[in-house]
Amino acid sequence: MGELFDRLREERDDASLRERALAHGTAYLEGVDTRSVYPGDAAIDGLSALREALPTHGTSAHDIVDTLHAVGSPATVAQLGGRYFGMVNGGVLPAALAARLLGDHWDQNPALYALSPTVATLEDVCENWVSDLLGLPADTAMGLVSGSSLAIVSALAAARWRLLQNQGWDVNASGLGGAPAIRLITSRHTHGTVKKAIAMLGFGLDCIEWVDVDDQGRLKPDCLPPLDDSCLLMLQAGNVNSGAFDPFEAVCEQAAEAGAWVHVDGAFGLWAAACPAMSALTEGMAMATSWSADGHKTLNTPYDTGLVLTRDRDALVNALQLSGEYVVWGDARDNMLYTPEMSRRARAVELWAALKTLGRSGVDELVTSLHDRAMQFAQELPDAGFEVMNEVVYNQVLVRADDGDTIDRVIDAVQRNGVCWVGGSSWFGQRVMRISVCNWRTTSADVSRSVEAMASALKRIRGNLTHLSP
Ligand SMILES: Cc1ncc(COP(=O)(O)O)c(C=O)c1O
Repeated sequence: MGELFDRLREERDDASLRERALAHGTAYLEGVDTRSVYPGDAAIDGLSALREALPTHGTSAHDIVDTLHAVGSPATVAQLGGRYFGMVNGGVLPAALAARLLGDHWDQNPALYALSPTVATLEDVCENWVSDLLGLPADTAMGLVSGSSLAIVSALAAARWRLLQNQGWDVNASGLGGAPAIRLITSRHTHGTVKKAIAMLGFGLDCIEWVDVDDQGRLKPDCLPPLDDSCLLMLQAGNVNSGAFDPFEAVCEQAAEAGAWVHVDGAFGLWAAACPAMSALTEGMAMATSWSADGHKTLNTPYDTGLVLTRDRDALVNALQLSGEYVVWGDARDNMLYTPEMSRRARAVELWAALKTLGRSGVDELVTSLHDRAMQFAQELPDAGFEVMNEVVYNQVLVRADDGDTIDRVIDAVQRNGVCWVGGSSWFGQRVMRISVCNWRTTSADVSRSVEAMASALKRIRGNLTHLSP
């Protein structure tokens, strides 16, 4: 007895422990552009070292950090490097990472102003900065959640509260049983997390009124059903495959006349509103009622930064309300009223740092450069034998070659080769290679090197196929 706490106190006062963690992190970052993007078999096999029974006695903090680096680091996917193009995974800005490190030392619970005046102030500042940067209405409310998934749940919960309140129904008190109907309208290309939110909130996926899309995956406004004030429309800024943006102006005008709620899922695309050159994509987007976005995609904050934004502050706060005898209410912002969680990470630290390190012009430059790199892919890939399937309006490129089997084999070969990482998807029934440029570290040379890897994989596969054909 007592030994554990003696050790903990020693480790608390041992600055070399945190220096060691930082040294491992620095070594990791230094190697991230030269290693295989996807870990090799040996590194993955090495993870079996972690599969031990829970030890009876604790391990020293130095050993823990060393084990994580020795076993864990080699088996990570090098998403922080410049040649990871899977999912829509952003990089990390140096200032945002450094701010997270400092913020982790603070270990603040930002639920209430009284728990962290610093973080409450940072959230307040970010709320103003983000709505100003994206041209959203003054007094737009913002909550910081883990990512777009939860931001969408939060926004749709706010919409549910408001649309039912408008019909004289208090959903918090009376629930959904016997409630007036809410009509759910979204495009056939809506993201899976929107469907997940609809299911989680008890609306029922079978109740969705689906709207057809054009050849870029944009909702067709002339296919909208007649709208009324029980409608919840879900649009997207950035189709997860093609990067296309729904036609906000046409839809939002109709929705405003009908008194419907419009939510925009802008997980990675909302930031286009900070780019004057891309204003055509986001025209009319500010007319919506709520928006969701990630910091950890286009803005390149570390993970766990989702933003829910709405012009209807009351609806958000009512939908996410919480009370307790012991709660110390602040005169200023109490963050837990804007998120489903009570206790959570101080996400505003790195969001604030990212916005501060970039500034208004830096966000524009970052988003523009991701688009430029995507355009470079679209320009170089046809010479390598590929066909680009989408209009590259943002950061996404969809590519095919020959047939579905060939492109799947190219994707597999590219993933194994380790120069870069791309995933596959399906686009109007055809298998495609899906490239998402989302990291500030991606250079023009990274793109060319990745195209070379794709070209040589295609050449080899075509060579083998010719060789095998009768
Ligand atoms: C359009 C869109 N919406 C929502 C999400 C979900 O975001 P998150 O993974 O941060 O929850 C994604 C993820 O890629 C996305 O692309």
